[in-house]
Amino acid sequence: MPYAIGLNSGSSFDGVDAVLIEINQAEDGSVLPPKYIDGLSIDWPEEIQKQVLAAFDDTLGIFKLTRLNYICGAVFAQAAMELMAKHNLKGEDLDVIGYDGQTIYQEPPEHEQMAKYPEGEPFYKMWTEYGYPCGLQIGEPGVVAVLTDAPVVTQFRSVDHALQGTGAPLMQYFDYVMFRHTEPTATLNIGGISNCHVACADRSRMKAFDCGPGNVMIDAAMRKFYGKGYDKDGEVAAKGTINQTMLDELLQHPFFKRDIPRCAWRLDFGAEYTESMLEKYSNLSHEDILATLTAFTAEAITRAFKQFIVPTGLPVKRLIASGGGVRNKTMMKMIAERLPEGVKLESSDVIGVPPQYKEAIKFATIAFSTKRSIGDNIPDACGAKKFGILGKLVLPPHQAKLTQKQNKLVD
Ligand SMILES: Nc1ncnc2c1ncn2[C@@H]1O[C@H](COP(=O)(O)OP(=O)(O)O)[C@@H](O)[C@H]1O
Ligand SMILES: [Mg+2]
Repeated sequence: MPYAIGLNSGSSFDGVDAVLIEINQAEDGSVLPPKYIDGLSIDWPEEIQKQVLAAFDDTLGIFKLTRLNYICGAVFAQAAMELMAKHNLKGEDLDVIGYDGQTIYQEPPEHEQMAKYPEGEPFYKMWTEYGYPCGLQIGEPGVVAVLTDAPVVTQFRSVDHALQGTGAPLMQYFDYVMFRHTEPTATLNIGGISNCHVACADRSRMKAFDCGPGNVMIDAAMRKFYGKGYDKDGEVAAKGTINQTMLDELLQHPFFKRDIPRCAWRLDFGAEYTESMLEKYSNLSHEDILATLTAFTAEAITRAFKQFIVPTGLPVKRLIASGGGVRNKTMMKMIAERLPEGVKLESSDVIGVPPQYKEAIKFATIAFSTKRSIGDNIPDACGAKKFGILGKLVLPPHQAKLTQKQNKLVD
């Protein structure tokens, strides 16, 4: 069975995850659920981390960003090579390496504006006047293809954007692969941002959308108050009491007025917003603030579930969670308590997908599908006008043909 590698570095920017999977097609050409083999995570080198954080804040400058694109490619290649070395695999043993790249920035689509684009207007006005979405993912695929000597598929969002889709979240196709032969199933990924999806055999009934914050505000508060990257297992939040006034104000965030499909980015719930809320509620104890921010994520998720998934009428009995937030026990408890009766919260371990690696497995699966020209967006879930093939393919040096006789320097 073909091997594929998936890589991911999400909005939490907590490291690069790499997974090795086995994946294949059914006789009708459709992609079968992959088998997870192994995964690892590497840290971002400190000096590179500083540059990416500066790029998030738009203070890096385009010349430095140009080099950073190649540098990030080298970091992604490093993560892939570590996993390949561990399993004694060479580039030519791999079907594909799939990764999206590090998102630096994104602008969501403006659906009303896009609908007004008149036939015959110059194309560029789609992006200057008519609210088409855009985004930037870095980690140059030419670098990854050369350093790993494997085919690479990357930057999955732009095709969806040009089709008027949100381009984020991107979990829906993987969920379709996993659940199309089972009962309709809802999934949840809690990274920096949280997103929710419902998958079933009928792709026209699927949904995918960002719920709001995942860990992003919790991490920011932990850094400020305790000098730590995150609230390990939700221990700090467990000691606090939810402050209803602060929670109510958080739930007034303009993001929640956006209809689905919708996507958030760390800027929506980023440093500036978090800092202003922490300042305003500085009379509360640190534990109470952490409890309230954790409840905020749980409310954002469960309200979105009730608002957008329950009305589909699909008989959903499970919400299968993934992402680093699954390790936050206080958050998981708060989500479970707030879900409608009869819906069970489970970790993606139950489907053989380690929660911290689901996104990387997803990217490997999309890349494998793209290499075979399989439509791998879900138009009705993400707002795209039709099916497309997500990503850009770069081929590795070992596949270079020099003449018809292949790889001979002199005929
Ligand atoms: N043991 C843990 N307890 C609580 N939170 C955790 C734990 N491990 C990871 N996390 C949270 O998960 C986040 C990383 O999740 P991840 O799924 O990698 O997000 P992203 O896709 O945005 O990179 C961390 O920033 C942290 O907030
Ligand atoms: Mg991560």
